[in-house]
Amino acid sequence: MKGIILAGGAGTRLHPMTKVVSKQLLPVYDKPMIYYPLTTLMLAGIKDILLISTPQDLQNFQTLLGDGSDIGINISYLEQPDPGGLAQAYTLGADFVDNQPSALILGDNIFHGHGLSALMGHAQRHADGASVFAYRVRDASRYGVVSFDAADKVQSLEEKPANPRSNWAVTGLYFYDGKAPEYAANLQPSARGELEITDLNKKYLEAGNLRVEKMGRGFAWLDTGTPNSLSSAGEFIKTLANRQGAQIGSPEETAFHMDFIDAAQLAACAKGMENSDYGKYLISIANEAS
Ligand code: TTP
Repeated sequence: MKGIILAGGAGTRLHPMTKVVSKQLLPVYDKPMIYYPLTTLMLAGIKDILLISTPQDLQNFQTLLGDGSDIGINISYLEQPDPGGLAQAYTLGADFVDNQPSALILGDNIFHGHGLSALMGHAQRHADGASVFAYRVRDASRYGVVSFDAADKVQSLEEKPANPRSNWAVTGLYFYDGKAPEYAANLQPSARGELEITDLNKKYLEAGNLRVEKMGRGFAWLDTGTPNSLSSAGEFIKTLANRQGAQIGSPEETAFHMDFIDAAQLAACAKGMENSDYGKYLISIANEAS
């Protein structure tokens, strides 16, 4: 399965923080935001990843992550000339996807929780259709919103409705079969001029092929798009990391646990980071294992 990280956008709600630096490179506690969605895709066993960002920012992601070979994966890069909507991941990324199943994750979405790999594994087992996740939020009007009938069957999907029919937001993690580029190519821009991911999901819904799985309260789905949510996400990660002495969202550690790399390669990843707690942590994991 292929993976796409969409890490462009304007980040206007975080100005002036994002005037020079891409939102997805801002720190969430002790590491760049992009580490978290990258780790999520890796936890789903995905090793072939396309990172899409703006023409200004793409080089910085490349400098940070390289080609991924040090963590046993393959990362390629593509420009999104303008922030034309989330579904552009599949018009721009059609060649990369190459009619194969894929996962898309938004570069500013953080997922955490016991059983996340299993939940994603479940979504990946279906040969066709799309699988997305619904998460209960207080203010659903900022998101794509899904409503269910009494039998938990999907009733409606709406993008940023003024009066949401439910509190269930669709998260920024999507699993699609090989038809996503074809569906995306036939979408029309919305009133705000974007190719909407909700419209892509509606294509699957109309075809009777959209699965929406509820992500329960045992999971954290964190948004980082505003100063408050960015700061809260950092506090959340800091609290767990300090209490447990374990990293959340480390691609290097995840690569090791997923057997993408061995202990010696993990130790090599820490080179140049020995002065930080992050680097020391990677070295300790490598030492414990060898
Ligand atoms: P948003 O948070 O909806 O948009 P934004 O990041 O541009 O921020 P703001 O609203 O503050 O201006 O985007 C969600 C994610 O998708 C985020 O990681 C940016 C990314 N994105 C793209 O990469 N390309 C796009 O065309 C859009 C709309 C978003």
